[in-house]
Amino acid sequence: MKTSWKPDSWRSKPIQQVPDYQDPAALAAVEGRLSSYPPLVFAGEARKLKKSLAAVARGESFLLQGGDCAESFMEHHPDNIRDFFRVFLQMAVVLTFAGSMPVVKVGRIAGQFAKPRSAPTETINGVELPSYRGDNINGIEFTPEARVPDPRRIEDSYRQAAATLNLLRAFAQGGYANLEHVHQWMLGFVKDSPQGHHYQEIADRISESMAFMRACGVDPDTTPSLRSTDFFTSHEALLLGYEQAMTRVDSTTGDWYATSGHMLWIGDRTRQPDHAHVEYMRGVKNPIGLKCGPSLTGDGLLQLIDLLNPDNEPGRLTLICRFGANKVFDHLPQLIRAVEREGRSVVWSCDPMHGNTIKASSGYKTRPFDLILQEVKSFFDVHQGEGTFPGGIHIEMTGKNVTECTGGARAITDEDLSDRYHTHCDPRLNADQALELAFLVAELLKTSRQGVVQQRAVAGL
Ligand code: PEP
Ligand code: CO
Repeated sequence: MKTSWKPDSWRSKPIQQVPDYQDPAALAAVEGRLSSYPPLVFAGEARKLKKSLAAVARGESFLLQGGDCAESFMEHHPDNIRDFFRVFLQMAVVLTFAGSMPVVKVGRIAGQFAKPRSAPTETINGVELPSYRGDNINGIEFTPEARVPDPRRIEDSYRQAAATLNLLRAFAQGGYANLEHVHQWMLGFVKDSPQGHHYQEIADRISESMAFMRACGVDPDTTPSLRSTDFFTSHEALLLGYEQAMTRVDSTTGDWYATSGHMLWIGDRTRQPDHAHVEYMRGVKNPIGLKCGPSLTGDGLLQLIDLLNPDNEPGRLTLICRFGANKVFDHLPQLIRAVEREGRSVVWSCDPMHGNTIKASSGYKTRPFDLILQEVKSFFDVHQGEGTFPGGIHIEMTGKNVTECTGGARAITDEDLSDRYHTHCDPRLNADQALELAFLVAELLKTSRQGVVQQRAVAGL
């Protein structure tokens, strides 16, 4: 029997990663105000995304999810949003072409503030302070004042999310996402990249296809779908008081939806089946993600799937796998086999970032590009072996030319990291590295798609 669910039923469960607010009345006042503010997204949009993800689960589309590890108040600038969107669209075009299938575009943006931490405190030069938990909770400055959780930050992050989403909607629908522009930007990248010759073939074929379509009269002037795009938002549903305040009944269906973003996910540190985060997420109808790290077993995963997607609804659940480049073969096959054995519909996505974080000799947290690529390759290999569909990638990236991850075509070294290391949390791929990864994943997707077509032909489908 299903136990009853309410937007606040998580409050009676054990909870991880919860900030220690010193003024509960001030927190309650903020949450009370937020619960009457406009929703950021509409339930119908979340349903549309779920439908698109159902196509990913069937192997008919590919999911591209990415953005900052943590959005920050300091980096809230239209140029940052524009540059992210510009790179993201180019990645999507490359993947669409390579896979010959639609790419579902989901940003880690317009709400990705709260961060789970591996330790509640941080010590620098013998001084111990509470850890930074994201700009919607406390400040990154290493001072006792900044590290006190401040409920006013929740309202500030709501307003930032609203402004960010407003610009993204304008870009997506107002002409910026025009395929001709995206194509020109992508050609600029290929021309300037030191490894550009590797990507020239795909770029040329995209150019040829576009010229052919134009000759047939299919261009952005005649075809609305070439001058706009669907773009969705997502974040980790970590700060449950905020999520509860943004949870609303959809008047058209009577169902509860999280309206803080289209898709929400549960982090690897907060996926205990009997705890608060799973409790909250099981009750909202949005498409949701679940981070799957090395500690998850096949049975543990099935237990979570029973809770989070009891009706086996396609598109509801995306499993975001993040094992580390050398651990994919040890962990992924057993999860896939458990899911296949029980006939569960899921989207398999690969987060090649969170299992590949290392400390560089310079002291910076970094992620080597080669390990990131290696994790994606292994993810595709395992799916090939199991006969399942590698449905997507989930990455931390920015449209700026930062130096946070080492490697890539411009061979960023440990020594370069200090040049432009701007992240508020984990190291992100910069614009060139992100696009380079998309070209490399495009190759994998092309091969995997050819494999599926052959298998289906052999099976007489
Ligand atoms: C993240 O996506 O930023 C994150 C903290 O991931 P995970 O829960 O997989 O560690
Ligand atoms: Co991160």
